[in-house]
Amino acid sequence: MTDLYAVFGNPIAHSKSPAIHAAFAAATGQPLRYEARLAPIDGFTQAIADFVAAGGKGANITVPFKEEAFRLSSRLSERAARAGAVNTLAFKAGEILGDNTDGAGLVGDLTRNLNCPLTGQRILLLGAGGAARGVIAPLLAGKPAALFIANRSADKAVALAHGFADLATVEAGSFADTAGRRFDLVINATSASLAGASLALPPGLFAGDSLAYDMMYGKGETPFLSQAREQGATRCADGLGMLVEQAAEAFLVWRGVRPETGRVLADLRRTLAA
Ligand code: ATR
Repeated sequence: MTDLYAVFGNPIAHSKSPAIHAAFAAATGQPLRYEARLAPIDGFTQAIADFVAAGGKGANITVPFKEEAFRLSSRLSERAARAGAVNTLAFKAGEILGDNTDGAGLVGDLTRNLNCPLTGQRILLLGAGGAARGVIAPLLAGKPAALFIANRSADKAVALAHGFADLATVEAGSFADTAGRRFDLVINATSASLAGASLALPPGLFAGDSLAYDMMYGKGETPFLSQAREQGATRCADGLGMLVEQAAEAFLVWRGVRPETGRVLADLRRTLAA
């Protein structure tokens, strides 16, 4: 029997998740169908209820419903509880299991695809919204030498860092507070790229052989990666790999099989560039 999955968001038309999961299903031989569903801004809960009633087995959740999916879950994985948001739902025996694979997706892309192990690295995380929050615990699990959260509004970064103080020492402040520091890995989790805005980053942040990583992606180089290159980053990567890796992690949650991601990512990269 073919099991049904879907991604819910608003907007959703340009989601790459159906293509990614169709490729995973074909490669692993898993009998599933995966669709994109537009949920009304004020109708997410009903959309999920309808989907479950129609036999849906699981769902991915994207903007702007990740916090609502968190509240809707009857049980949360530890990483979803830490993230305060849910991007993966599994419907089992009347329960709604909420998980979050975004952080694992980022770490998987860094370590598996980009050959960037986290152990001993000095990491700068830019941004203090939902996207940043979701990746902090998975980054700390990699045992970096330091993690600094910098945000336009410093108080939000400080509050966010406090929430993870039980896991490790996390520094926080404004962009200006990073002056004089050097980082091996600088991750952009702000939404500034969406507006094409550059960040007020002090010069000299990028250590030799550093990697700049933008959780956003697009057809060409993102504004953050252009800025990072100009400021001395030697390697740059956008978030397309994170997208594919978080999908593979969701596929594992649902099906118990982790698909190979290399070819799917390469195909997606080609399509995006065309
Ligand atoms: P998301 O869920 O994508 O993280 P969010 O919770 O609205 O979205 O958070 C957006 C993040 O991008 C915040 O860290 C925000 O900084 P502020 O907390 O100071 O608002 C950051 N951001 C958005 N536009 C920005 C810009 N032009 N320059 C710097 N930071 C920006």
